[in-house]
Amino acid sequence: MQFFIVYFSSMIFEQLFDIKSSTYTYIISSGKGREALIIDPVIDKIEGYIKILKNLNLKLVKVIDTHIHADHVTGLNELNKRTNCTRIMGEKSKSEVIDLRIKDNEKIKVENIELKAIYTPGHTDCSYSYLMNDRVFTGDTLLINGTGRTDFQSGSSYDAYDSLFNKLLKLPKKTLVYPAHDYNGKKNSTIENEKNNNPRLQVSSKEEYAEIMNNIKLAKPKMMDIAVPANTKGLTLNQL
Ligand SMILES: [Fe+2]
Repeated sequence: MQFFIVYFSSMIFEQLFDIKSSTYTYIISSGKGREALIIDPVIDKIEGYIKILKNLNLKLVKVIDTHIHADHVTGLNELNKRTNCTRIMGEKSKSEVIDLRIKDNEKIKVENIELKAIYTPGHTDCSYSYLMNDRVFTGDTLLINGTGRTDFQSGSSYDAYDSLFNKLLKLPKKTLVYPAHDYNGKKNSTIENEKNNNPRLQVSSKEEYAEIMNNIKLAKPKMMDIAVPANTKGLTLNQL
């Protein structure tokens, strides 16, 4: 008589929220060989991520920042220090410590999970989005009912228009949108919903979009003078 043991494994997808910076962080794993990936970690939340990884019996192998954040210090480098995971950013990143610089259209694999990098400059010149099957991680390029500001870190409202209208909005309409932030408690959206309802996207030209973006008067993020240098240099907890 033969016995077969079947191990069922299903995808792990955890969306975590940092109240201080309203940042969403994503922990993803195919669940198969227990390898995991984290997108946009926040340094203050490291202990929580380590705990979740441990509880789910996951091994962190890769960590991605969608861009150099100005409103919080990234957890990328502390996670690398603790787990030796590979730090990934787009090739235009100004970070001095990245292990792997990914190009537009290049793929990142973690077991049978595959993410395709899409270069989406505009919020910053180093902003990338990542497409994973039915969902896209849009960083600060496309937010729910909003879009990322374009007035610092080499941002450009014209580049943002191009990234939004010629790249992200061209994805299949049912694609789920998972941004790096939300300030109103919304967790995700769809390309279709943003296309139809996002007030920033109801424009008919690049110039009209630039006009809106250039007239948004926003204060500088409180953490900017700490976060940008820390994220560029790749500081860990004891270096802050
Ligand atoms: Fe940002």
